[in-house]
Amino acid sequence: MFLHTCPIFFYPYISLMAKINFITHDNKEHSIEVQNGLTVMEGAVQNNVPGIDADCGGGMACATCHVYVKEEWFDKLPKKEEGEEDMLDMAFEPKKNSRLSCQLVVSDELDGLVLNIPSKQA
Ligand code: FES
Repeated sequence: MFLHTCPIFFYPYISLMAKINFITHDNKEHSIEVQNGLTVMEGAVQNNVPGIDADCGGGMACATCHVYVKEEWFDKLPKKEEGEEDMLDMAFEPKKNSRLSCQLVVSDELDGLVLNIPSKQA
């Protein structure tokens, strides 16, 4: 949680953000702050995280936002919906911990989330 001052009205307001950590195939870590309510994919695209292209803009039609969720985080995420599972079946090397980052909505509960980006998405 971050406290900011509104530049127009000069009053403090609270902006809820969560830290999301991406690890690319070459083991480089990209830690970004994403506003609650956005998807993890939207945060990655806004922050130019390499390997998250999101070609379909979040429509569950491309799997270019595919990530592997660090084991300790997997059960903390909302369950996959049927469409997500179907799209992941067509993703590159799907695993048990695969998710589409466009389906993960950022909240305080996801603060510190760790995701690996598949090697094909370099
Ligand atoms: S952005 Fe296309 S499936 Fe997530």
